[in-house]
Amino acid sequence: MACREEEIPKVGDYYTYDIVDQSVIVIRVAPDEIKAYHNVCPHRGRTITEGCGHAARLMCRFHGWSWELNGKNNRVVDRDEWPAATLDGVLDLVPVKVDRWGGWVYINLDPDSISLEEHLEPAKAYLDPYDLGGLRYHWRKSAIIDCNWKVALEAFNRPLNKSVA
Ligand code: FES
Repeated sequence: MACREEEIPKVGDYYTYDIVDQSVIVIRVAPDEIKAYHNVCPHRGRTITEGCGHAARLMCRFHGWSWELNGKNNRVVDRDEWPAATLDGVLDLVPVKVDRWGGWVYINLDPDSISLEEHLEPAKAYLDPYDLGGLRYHWRKSAIIDCNWKVALEAFNRPLNKSVA
């Protein structure tokens, strides 16, 4: 689970998801399409983005190579100085498997992994009626409670608009 869809609402909005030593760019490339790429410049391996933001194109700040939102390279500085064969097939950003469910954007670094839907079942079937995609973050409160965490979670995790006896 990399981010929520509403964190990247406009085309060009991106979220950089870092996990251990991996970094992935999650980016909205069309009103209803989100893609993900390894956050690695094909030139010398620098990271391309940090945090979240908005970009008309992705650009590596080290030597200025850049890519369209669809991951296709559109600029190699001093391209004529490179032997063509050196650049063949290695300029575009490397895609990461991405899918969405319930308003969350999921990535999987294994391109041969099972589908997200398959992975989420049977929980998905139980949770789909709750319209999780329509939920929005409203507030957060933290506290240190001297109890088993499951007791606290069960006591305070309840649906909105329902009274508790
Ligand atoms: S390392 Fe990215 S353009 Fe050189």
